[in-house]
Amino acid sequence: MSKAVVKFFCKNCGHVAPKWLGKCPSCEAWNSFTEEIVQKSTTSTKQLWGKSNGQKSEAIKIQEIVEGEEQRFILTDNELNRVLGGGLVSGSITLIGGEPGIGKSTLLLQLALQLKRKVLYVSGEESETQLKMRAERIGIINDECYVICETSLGNLLSYLKSDTPEILIIDSVQTMSSDLIESPPGSISQIKECTAELLRFAKESNVPVFLIGHINKDGNIAGPKVLEHMVDTVLQFEGDRHYNYRILRTLKNRFGSASEIGIYEMKGNGLREIENPSEILISEREELLSGITISCAVEGIRPILLETQALVSSAVYGTPQRTSNGFDLRRLSMLLAVLEKRCGFQLGVKDVFINIAGGMKLEDPGLDLGIVASILSSYQNIAIDSSIAFSGEIGLSGEVRAVSRIEQRISEAEKLGFKEMMISKYNKGIDSHRTNIKLIQIGKIEEAFEYLFG
Ligand code: TYD
Ligand code: MG
Repeated sequence: MSKAVVKFFCKNCGHVAPKWLGKCPSCEAWNSFTEEIVQKSTTSTKQLWGKSNGQKSEAIKIQEIVEGEEQRFILTDNELNRVLGGGLVSGSITLIGGEPGIGKSTLLLQLALQLKRKVLYVSGEESETQLKMRAERIGIINDECYVICETSLGNLLSYLKSDTPEILIIDSVQTMSSDLIESPPGSISQIKECTAELLRFAKESNVPVFLIGHINKDGNIAGPKVLEHMVDTVLQFEGDRHYNYRILRTLKNRFGSASEIGIYEMKGNGLREIENPSEILISEREELLSGITISCAVEGIRPILLETQALVSSAVYGTPQRTSNGFDLRRLSMLLAVLEKRCGFQLGVKDVFINIAGGMKLEDPGLDLGIVASILSSYQNIAIDSSIAFSGEIGLSGEVRAVSRIEQRISEAEKLGFKEMMISKYNKGIDSHRTNIKLIQIGKIEEAFEYLFG
């Protein structure tokens, strides 16, 4: 016997309350509660104690567990292999989140077509003809790629029993619904139930499952964080709509590093992997312009050289503007304050605009030195030689601090033909004989200024 009851869920964190609340007591978000109908079982947890369903659970010693190498499918898409930590683990469940139109369906349909394995693509959003049109655009043929347009989880699971694929793709988890739950598709209890059910399928059948999830306005995977901790891997597909570059970022990975990125370019015929991002992120320049520098950042374990641009001009209004594209605005304010207070540049009366080329958004503090150099170059209106690359973090007292993976950064700059590289003198243990690049090791911003413009 079961009866329907109403509960209130926080859209942000999944907190459950018996009545509507203005502010979530768990994550403190305002106005985040929605009403949902859920089934309530008459057996409460209290009654479970002392009861069992006949199966006995048994604990074993951790020492006695035989360590088996987890089985991985090596995918044809190297970027995806990288973000998954070296291939797709059997029986794993991966959630791919992203804004509408960013290319999630394209990425996974392309994967389904590239793999010469039996793949089932479940679409709750598009019709078979739409999928076919997309597949024609991508232009790869896989005889073993099956599609099914289905939104009922029950129907899908009974289909899977009779015909199990080697990889299952669900587009999207928000469109699936289970008959056991009263609330509509896309509601928190539905998403949780469907994910739990698919998780059970993945673990029992050892079939890897990809779930596509939409992102809501705040950038969270729609539905709550609960989904993120149920699955094994969470990937985020992001990018600027105005550019063709897309970044696939690992947010969580039970089978590998959670700080990897994969870079793609959206072309007319699907997504193309970009193996050497540095080559496309540095634009060809005929003449030297002030305010442009090349920085070497590291994302995950991969060094990327990219162009940072700054424009410093006299403020027209009382409050100077600070605008940044691809670089954290608060960090920019901090760098400007350091330049003003520690080095005496009168930037308080200037408008400052920053742009990272290619619509990239990176968080590496190693970009600081390049940003500062481009600000100073624009401020002085003197161009910086295009054969020099920068990598260093700026501290609050104007010191240039050491950055991680310096040797990889240096070798990437060398590979791309840079002659000089400005780094922190606190980066120890660099074998300068091994590289042909001239290293300029500095400890303070003033030294950089002296070297570049002195
Ligand atoms: P889509 O995969 O539908 O996005 P999502 O599933 O994340 O909502 O991507 C759609 C966008 O990509 C759409 O604007 C068209 C574009 N696109 C290409 O540029 N080239 C292609 O080959 C394909 C299939 C789509
Ligand atoms: Mg889609």
